[in-house]
Amino acid sequence: MTVHIGAKPGEIADTVLMPGDPLRAKWAAETFLENPVCINEVRGMLGYTGSWRGNRVTIHGSGMGMPSLSIYANELIRDYGAKTLIRIGSAGAMQPGVNLRDIVLAMTASTLSTPSRGLFRELNFAPCADFDLLTAARAAAKAKDIPTHVGGIYSSDVFYDERPDLNEQMTRHGVLAVEMEAAELYILAARYGIRALAVLTISDHLLTHEALPSSDRQSSFRDMVEIALEAAFA
Ligand code: ADE
Repeated sequence: MTVHIGAKPGEIADTVLMPGDPLRAKWAAETFLENPVCINEVRGMLGYTGSWRGNRVTIHGSGMGMPSLSIYANELIRDYGAKTLIRIGSAGAMQPGVNLRDIVLAMTASTLSTPSRGLFRELNFAPCADFDLLTAARAAAKAKDIPTHVGGIYSSDVFYDERPDLNEQMTRHGVLAVEMEAAELYILAARYGIRALAVLTISDHLLTHEALPSSDRQSSFRDMVEIALEAAFA
């Protein structure tokens, strides 16, 4: 057991899918895994371990934002030995050609700051995805015929943004979408020599102000789980 995860040693798989919402972790585990067992419920942050096509997988919530993700990812990697972490979550589109329901695979993640900022000080570290996971996820998304974009995203510290000028610069520099977790995930993966990827579905659009109805979110989430599982075990 760790401070935030109640699982016993050996109860977490090498591969962990991380949705922000713990109830999504429960839904995905019950929908996609054989014999899912709840291995964490500390603070309501649910985690399940089961198997998919004969491979052991854990699906564990990350919470919202990089400080929350950092707690769970640190403990999953350092205390339970996780080797592959895949974030599955939503993002807001920042380009005209990126549409609601499209998949974005985050090759890099720009930030103003992360929980690792103090460590890097003046260095602008470039967080990036694992190449093999990225290419496998792209192949899985293509096979499903889902419009998919691969490129840079922006991991923000705030959902209610007060810097339209910064968002304009992101759009101008080709950043595909904004979310709130991937950069720290990629930094931790680099620090501990493990694989990481963020598979994102577009839930809202910063330029058109459209948003996905909640009824459509479940099917987008289903696609992301399948893409993440196929990429993890390609
Ligand atoms: N996740 C989904 N949409 C987002 C947005 N507009 N900003 C930050 N994170 C998001």
